[in-house]
Amino acid sequence: MDIDSVLSSWDGENCLLHHDAQSGVWFVIAIHSTRSGAAAGGTRVMHYASAADAVADATSLASAMTLKMGVADLPMGGGKSVIALPPGAARPDSAAWSRLMEIHAGNLERLSGQYWTGPDVGTTSADMDSLGSRTRYVFGRSLAAGGAGSSAGETASRGLEAVLATAAEAGLGGVRGRTLLVQGLGAVGFRVAGLAANAGARLLVADVDPQRCVDAARLGARVVGVDEVTITGCDILVPCATGGLVDARVARELPCAAVAGAANNVLTSLEVADVLRDRGILYAPDFVANCGGAIHLVGREVLDWSPEKVRDRTEQIRSTLSEIFASARSRGISTESAARELAREKLESAARSGTREAV
Ligand code: NAI
Ligand code: PHE
Repeated sequence: MDIDSVLSSWDGENCLLHHDAQSGVWFVIAIHSTRSGAAAGGTRVMHYASAADAVADATSLASAMTLKMGVADLPMGGGKSVIALPPGAARPDSAAWSRLMEIHAGNLERLSGQYWTGPDVGTTSADMDSLGSRTRYVFGRSLAAGGAGSSAGETASRGLEAVLATAAEAGLGGVRGRTLLVQGLGAVGFRVAGLAANAGARLLVADVDPQRCVDAARLGARVVGVDEVTITGCDILVPCATGGLVDARVARELPCAAVAGAANNVLTSLEVADVLRDRGILYAPDFVANCGGAIHLVGREVLDWSPEKVRDRTEQIRSTLSEIFASARSRGISTESAARELAREKLESAARSGTREAV
């Protein structure tokens, strides 16, 4: 895979690439669509094996953001940024981190508002505060800095509701007494695990960071090795890490009844959803299950919604999922296909009627 082939097979609008020679870090901002408004999506900071891998991740995540904005009826397009740390590089110290944020803010400024960012893997509200002191194209700054605060809470609470809706559709009843395997115990996953434990689920957890596993063990969770996540029997697999967990090979062997979590891009392709459907494994499309955070950020910071209005809108995620499950069931298609179709229909209808006020 090289950058050329990744970009030439992508249907997005724009991709900014910036290499910082001093640190060896690649900065990528992928803008998939600005048709419904400026593009928006989080900033992901992680190690990547190559610049091409970083561009592939940013572009596919940006495409997913377009679908998420569509299905959530939000007046923004899809984008994503990746700050790719070189393989094996030490985590940047605070001076190096601040420099990375400064470079990223410069790139956001260069795009003049075509793309707005927010938190994602490896970034927090504190980082949004740091970016926000240099550029205005930032969501999810802390409340003290005038932002809507972290999107992780809304993502996690609505993510757990998506798990409950999935459990009901899969004939599992609720999650009480059921075994949930949560992969990734970060800002979102740790909260999902806590909520699931409170709801009476039996918890299995996995994270590459051993301290996070120790913390989750206090919730009564049993720790599973990160390489065992897709081969460990459970009722519901709950991906909350970096995505790409389920490819066709994994889907053919997965020992669970359902997959529902908050991670973006859980499936490596649309075809994987067919494998899951053929095996009777119910999949909750990720860009629907995890859109609570986007509704929170865009609702509060762009549309000036009250917390109550945000709550009302995020409560609709559950009925949207039920609609998708029913459509997939009655037409014999995968839930992912049904969800993509619904998102595209909503995007088309908004474009025709101009009902979404573009940002
Ligand atoms: P985070 O950076 O706070 O947490 C990610 C966690 O995953 C970390 O604990 C990390 O150690 C762990 N991890 C990474 N690779 C792993 C692996 N191979 N196996 C097990 N654990 C692994 O990120 P955050 O914000 O919790 O995001 C998690 C997922 O949710 C991502 O896919 C993100 O795109 C998605 N998401 C996040 C939203 C937000 O508001 N933060 C909103 C919607 C989706
Ligand atoms: N990164 C999160 C997501 O994937 C939250 C986010 C939403 C960030 C919208 C910026 C804009 O949904």
